Amino acid sequence: MKVRLKIWRQPLGNNLQGAFAHYSLEAVNPDMSFLEMLDLLNDQLVLKGEEPVAFDSDCREGICGSCSLMINGKPHGPGYGITTCQLYMRRFKDNEEIIVEPFRSRAFPVIKDLVVDRSAFDRIMQAGGYISVSAGQAPEANSIPIPHPIAEKAFDAAHCIGCGACVAACKNGSASLFVGAKITHLSLLPQGQPERRRRVLQMVEQADKEGFGACSFTKACEAVCPKAISVEVISRMHREYLISVLQRKLGWID
Ligand code: SF4
Ligand code: FES
Repeated sequence: MKVRLKIWRQPLGNNLQGAFAHYSLEAVNPDMSFLEMLDLLNDQLVLKGEEPVAFDSDCREGICGSCSLMINGKPHGPGYGITTCQLYMRRFKDNEEIIVEPFRSRAFPVIKDLVVDRSAFDRIMQAGGYISVSAGQAPEANSIPIPHPIAEKAFDAAHCIGCGACVAACKNGSASLFVGAKITHLSLLPQGQPERRRRVLQMVEQADKEGFGACSFTKACEAVCPKAISVEVISRMHREYLISVLQRKLGWID
């Protein structure tokens, strides 16, 4: 099949102006993944002595969250519950024009072409998205009984891969689905209890400092999340935050 590509190209360097470039690509196998199609394009650009398109990828199996692209205006492109690396060219029509852009958010500055800086997510995790108590080795940690429905809820939230699609889809540029997923995961498990209150305060406040917007519950995030995380995690985050703010006012938390 043939595809016509309209790809955002932006030079390396702060505040440099970008623009769309047009490419036509022949002999695309419908069973190629979207990233393999970009590899094919880059091979041809290199052969012509042109600069390849910069894009992020790592695992290429829906685990790492780095292949974040806006395809035809939707984070991770058409389909539901898949990342860009799990998107196959057979989803597109022959000779279709495909528009490829980086995730756009004030908190995710574009580094080059389709690569954005998502280190804001790392700083939110560093602010409290972990447990510092020793939970022992995996068999010991798993020997703590957890009711099945709670374990399922925690596991659903733990599926978040930090891809940033929720931010890219949100008109407010909110990271609430991401932060909510991380807070929900740890707040439900026994190992997460000692730091539960401080964690939510630090993570929510770090997200504000990074420039992410507030949630106005349009659910655009849930619609594009490749791991089908429910907005229920945002409600839980708000409840956790409210209780923690009250406890801080009462002086129960430093
Ligand atoms: S909540 Fe979903 S869309 Fe947001 S970062 Fe996690 S996996 Fe990606
Ligand atoms: S490359 Fe890792 S999720 Fe797509």
